[in-house]
Amino acid sequence: MAEPVLADLPTGTPAVTLADYGQRARAVLAPDVWDYVAGGSAAEVTLAANRAALDRVAVLPRVLRGSHAVDLDARLLGRPYAMPVGVAPMAYQRLVHPDGELGLAAAAGAAGVPYVASTLSSTPIEEITAAGAEVWFQLYWLRERALVRDLLDRVVAAGCRALMVTVDVPVLGRRPRDLRNAFRLPADVVAANLPHGRDALAHAGAPGVSGIAAHTEASFESALRWTDLAWLREHVDLPLVVKGVLDPRDAVEAVRIGADAVVVSNHGGRQLDGAPASVTMLPEVVDAVGDGAQVLLDSGIRGGTDVLRALALGAAGVLVGRPLLWALAVGGQRGARDALALLAAEVRDALTLAGCADPAAAAELRTLAVG
Ligand code: FNR
Ligand code: LAC
Repeated sequence: MAEPVLADLPTGTPAVTLADYGQRARAVLAPDVWDYVAGGSAAEVTLAANRAALDRVAVLPRVLRGSHAVDLDARLLGRPYAMPVGVAPMAYQRLVHPDGELGLAAAAGAAGVPYVASTLSSTPIEEITAAGAEVWFQLYWLRERALVRDLLDRVVAAGCRALMVTVDVPVLGRRPRDLRNAFRLPADVVAANLPHGRDALAHAGAPGVSGIAAHTEASFESALRWTDLAWLREHVDLPLVVKGVLDPRDAVEAVRIGADAVVVSNHGGRQLDGAPASVTMLPEVVDAVGDGAQVLLDSGIRGGTDVLRALALGAAGVLVGRPLLWALAVGGQRGARDALALLAAEVRDALTLAGCADPAAAAELRTLAVG
């Protein structure tokens, strides 16, 4: 007998895993939007590796530690949050639900976790920071430095708490699903932070062409260097995070230019296919960085067990991407809020079962590579 599809179950059946939101989102999203969110680049080998590698990390629980109240609080970039989790930056959130960025940011605020707003948000940054979360801004470096300067001024004025520069998108990865679908943005979803009308290419897919890829190619600086990040470090008085590092040598460079954190990430398998799972590189990056910066992990985190795995391997916290967009797609702001509450419950369970009184204690756990 076929497995029951959750979306077919009577409404009111609660989602009990983040994957449940994925199953339901698939049923409500237009197929090309589902593909854009769920898909990866090329043969999607790295996309699959993210999951497989996390599943190979076994964590040795400790017992009889006498702690019954697990404290989930975490300090990220020197600020207190309710758990060691942040909402990964994701472009164009109004694609999946009219609540868009405002819904997901408000949900993050309610959960006490940071919301990372994308340069390519479909809501202006000033409105997102008013939604009630601590907002970190994710920068895609644009070809015109004057535009970058304007954006940075707005980010500081809007009260963002940190600046996260994404460094793994000199161009968008080739994503066969989007190319086949001639993926493009609908007229009412725009790059709201960028000067009006510059995203015309993103609205014009063609057979074999992704509108989003064409737009990023025309607008992003593809030859960014460490000296540009050093410039940024000097000009912006916010904690600086470098997102999209896999090679420990790049993590060392990030520390050298004064970054406060790095995100070990392969962009959820959407950029270089054939790159390793990000969790595979985490221990080496943690070693290389030492006390020089915090290390965060994303790509494939799907529940409390994965958060525990990341903490046990030395991460200070994780970012979660797709599952939160799925929850937003399914239930708008409420869906996203429920998903973050579910994740918090899972993190609490995982820490409790591993005998950890708090996230920091997880760094003392032993891990094994299995399978
Ligand atoms: C992303 N990601 C991303 N990253 C970034 O720095 N800026 C961005 O605008 C986007 N946009 C974006 C859109 C969509 C639809 C997805 C799924 C992802 C990458 C994101 O921040 C993160 O690295 C991955 O999504 C993490 O992997 P998981 O949790 O989705 O597996
Ligand atoms: C993506 C870009 C926009 O992954 O970061 O789709």
